[in-house]
Amino acid sequence: MVRLAATVLVAAVVSSMAASAFAEEANWKRGRIYYRSVCTSCHAAEAIGAIAPSTRTKAEWAAYLQADAHAKGADKVSRFLSKAYRAEIKGSNKAAEKFADLSDEALTADVAAFLARGAKDGDEPASCN
Ligand code: HEC
Repeated sequence: MVRLAATVLVAAVVSSMAASAFAEEANWKRGRIYYRSVCTSCHAAEAIGAIAPSTRTKAEWAAYLQADAHAKGADKVSRFLSKAYRAEIKGSNKAAEKFADLSDEALTADVAAFLARGAKDGDEPASCN
């Protein structure tokens, strides 16, 4: 009886570990690589220049991503996070190539996590890039 209970307990723990591994958490490190290599590399080449995550608060970044209006509404931030965009630039952009198969939702969550962390009031304000 005790043995059976122990077996059931072990099975329950293992299955809950498997379940949490599937519910993948946002990966801010992956978001940082993408932000620097894709977002910043374009900004730096344009008149606007690099946009440091620390120029905005967490709430401002969350609202920015939520609004999904990029370059004063000329296009959408979601376009630059999409698989389609990564496919377009992967020939000349290593990060886009590396994350080519990641879902749009996962990559968006990763970049959002990096921006929240690097925000003015974030855990680790990122001054550059
Ligand atoms: C192909 C070039 C390019 C890429 C890629 C790009 N941006 Fe931009 N971004 C711009 C330009 C150009 C502006 C300035 C537009 C203006 O001021 O007229 C801008 C402006 C911005 C601004 C300032 C506010 C605004 O919308 O005008 C933010 C914030 C921003 N981009 C975030 C991002 C994020 C996040 C990514 C990556 C997921 C990204 N951008 C990718 C070109 C790019």
